[in-house]
Amino acid sequence: MASILKTTNLKKYYGSGDTIVKALDGVDLSVEDGEFAAIVGTSGSGKSTLLHMIGGLDRPTAGDVEVDGKKIFTLKDDALTIFRRRKIGFVFQNYNLVPVLNVYENIVLPVELDGNSVDKAHIEGIIKTLGLSEKVSRLPNQLSGGQQQRVAIARALAAKPAIILADEPTGNLDSRTSLDVLGLLKVTGEKFKQTIIMITHNEEIAQMADRIIRIEDGRIAGGSAEAGKNADSRYADERIAAGTAAKSGFAGGKPESGRIAGDRRV
Ligand SMILES: Nc1ncnc2c1ncn2[C@@H]1O[C@H](COP(=O)(O)OP(=O)(O)O)[C@@H](O)[C@H]1O
Ligand SMILES: [Mg+2]
Repeated sequence: MASILKTTNLKKYYGSGDTIVKALDGVDLSVEDGEFAAIVGTSGSGKSTLLHMIGGLDRPTAGDVEVDGKKIFTLKDDALTIFRRRKIGFVFQNYNLVPVLNVYENIVLPVELDGNSVDKAHIEGIIKTLGLSEKVSRLPNQLSGGQQQRVAIARALAAKPAIILADEPTGNLDSRTSLDVLGLLKVTGEKFKQTIIMITHNEEIAQMADRIIRIEDGRIAGGSAEAGKNADSRYADERIAAGTAAKSGFAGGKPESGRIAGDRRV
């Protein structure tokens, strides 16, 4: 399979001198087309910064991001905005729906902003898969948190982006709803052959991904940065470690799992 995303020696430093913060400090990461990857790590480890760089929301201090074979930071700001709208679907913790637009209008908004005609069959398929058919005329404030996040997922999928980036998508949901929403995200991703990169504090949620990438102090920890089959055994090890931690209520797991558990917002 081809890699849809590649970062090379990606760095993002904030500030300078004594107060410099190395939010990302040399990240080499490759994600395959159609893969569902989870990024985990303690608070402040650089997860959101990494997602922002991948999505072209901010420019790095050094290094490259290639999406679909294109080095995105060679683009000027206007072109980068267009790249983002066409190639990236974002899902945030706070849903970011437009309150005065109904569910359907929210979902098709990015497609319309890009001046494209709406692929009605595609949108219909997404709405159905996410169980939103009965809700299309509702306003966001008439929906539960889980329903609102399903709308945000539908909106992210609408323009058929190359990659969906989700930053703590279940951060505001209770644990049962989190699993339901993530199950739907996974199913939708598979059905529409979508690459998904998701940040989470929740080990149970992370386990639903094809691969878990750990970030520590702005670097990939544990050498799981390569996509592909050759790394299967490493992922298996990580899964077993994480799974054991989950079963034991995160007590006695790897210290890093414990910290993730302590931070998790479910
Ligand atoms: N705009 C910014 N200005 C200064 N420091 C920042 C900024 N954004 C993030 N940081 C710092 O970079 C580090 C990584 O942050 P972040 O990527 O948000 O971590 P995470 O999402 O893993 O919690 C933290 O130390 C954070 O304080
Ligand atoms: Mg974050």
